[in-house]
Amino acid sequence: MNLLVVGGGGREHAIIKKLKENPAVRTIYALPGNGGIAADAVCVPEIGAKDIDAIVEFAVSHRVDFAVVAPDDPLALGCVDRLHAAGIPCFGPDAKAARIESSKVFAKNLMKKYGIPTARYEVFHDPAGALAYLRGGVSFPIVVKADGLALGKGVLIPQTLAEAEAAVKSMMEDRTFGDAGSEIVIEEFLTGPEVSVLAFTDGTAIAPMVSSMDHKRAGDGDAGPNTGGMGTVAPNPFYTPEIAAQCMETIFLPTLAAMRAEGCPFRGCLYFGLMLTPDGPRVIEYNCRFGDPETQVVLPLLKTDLLTVMQAVEAGSLDALDVEWAEGAAACVILASGGYPGSYEKGREISLPNELPAGVTVFHAGDRLAEGKLVTSGGRVLGVTATAATLKEALANAYSAAGTIDFAGKYLRRDIGRRALSALEGN
Ligand code: AMP
Ligand code: GLY
Repeated sequence: MNLLVVGGGGREHAIIKKLKENPAVRTIYALPGNGGIAADAVCVPEIGAKDIDAIVEFAVSHRVDFAVVAPDDPLALGCVDRLHAAGIPCFGPDAKAARIESSKVFAKNLMKKYGIPTARYEVFHDPAGALAYLRGGVSFPIVVKADGLALGKGVLIPQTLAEAEAAVKSMMEDRTFGDAGSEIVIEEFLTGPEVSVLAFTDGTAIAPMVSSMDHKRAGDGDAGPNTGGMGTVAPNPFYTPEIAAQCMETIFLPTLAAMRAEGCPFRGCLYFGLMLTPDGPRVIEYNCRFGDPETQVVLPLLKTDLLTVMQAVEAGSLDALDVEWAEGAAACVILASGGYPGSYEKGREISLPNELPAGVTVFHAGDRLAEGKLVTSGGRVLGVTATAATLKEALANAYSAAGTIDFAGKYLRRDIGRRALSALEGN
């Protein structure tokens, strides 16, 4: 089979490595892919993940048997609708279903209408209304979210009225996040451990993946600005079997039913960003795709063949498949370019060891090949993942491998998994 994967980050690398395990797979094309992915797939750097016309044309002319659309932008732009129209089976939601991520207003209204637990909120279409609401007496901190896609940075948590006013002005007047800020959601601040649960679903049946924990802030101790994610661990020790059962009943199945009732059944990977509050689990956000770097710890623990699962999702036969997960744990430490998520330098040569220890995989996110050498080309450059019998071992192995990789300006958090470890050790 010829496969096509749209995207070019660490998540796509993790998907490609897993797809390659199926013996029926001959060629995997990555559009655009990246420098490191080129070792595992045929990369086409000329075709970006948002070039929908070019992607469809490529898929048809290269006789692609199955496509996976991984990033949010092409999903929101209807890449899956277009591939299906061209007769190409693929994994991912259509544009209507992708609104669950691409519009926070859609997602919040869906949850309110169908009684799915989430933070209380108000939607605003103009700055005057939002400012009047804030000045009318709300408690702080409060959460201000741009409606549209903003690279994971469209959420601000002001501590004071002055900060909240500034947040509204920057989103709605200065358009810091472009059109994503033409509508905003202001919602109550929730507390509790965060859990990411990615799930395969064909619209009716659901197979949740092993749970995980992201580390979104740039600095140790969860300090500094939000990033796309600086590291992950799986499973998430706060997500007990009891909580998982509760989430299935109150969140997962109701969300799928709500999407069906709205005429946009969700097929693909649905990502539930949850907060385990003292009042029970709440949805913080939905993503219409695999999370990154969550995928870099979750897929290495998948025992069932990934292509088989994705084909079952496409065929609507997921209920007939037993999706199995390995025992043990995984940890991923992101190596970033110094300065990220602000400005950073690119083009720094990357030095990797010739051999990695057993159980360690390096997923490439932001690099490219320049005259045969790997050089940095993005904020998050590499994800170093280790799987092991325990989280403690996985973390030790990921950090020790991360120490053997170098590039000028390399930056990493030193405390990935610390909170999860203390939870396991009962502190
Ligand atoms: P999002 O882009 O929606 O995932 O939000 C980014 C981060 O902001 C989340 O991972 C949370 O840490 C935080 N956040 C979002 N909504 C809330 C909320 N209602 N209460 C507390 N923290 C939140
Ligand atoms: N790691 C969070 C996300 O993929 O949105």
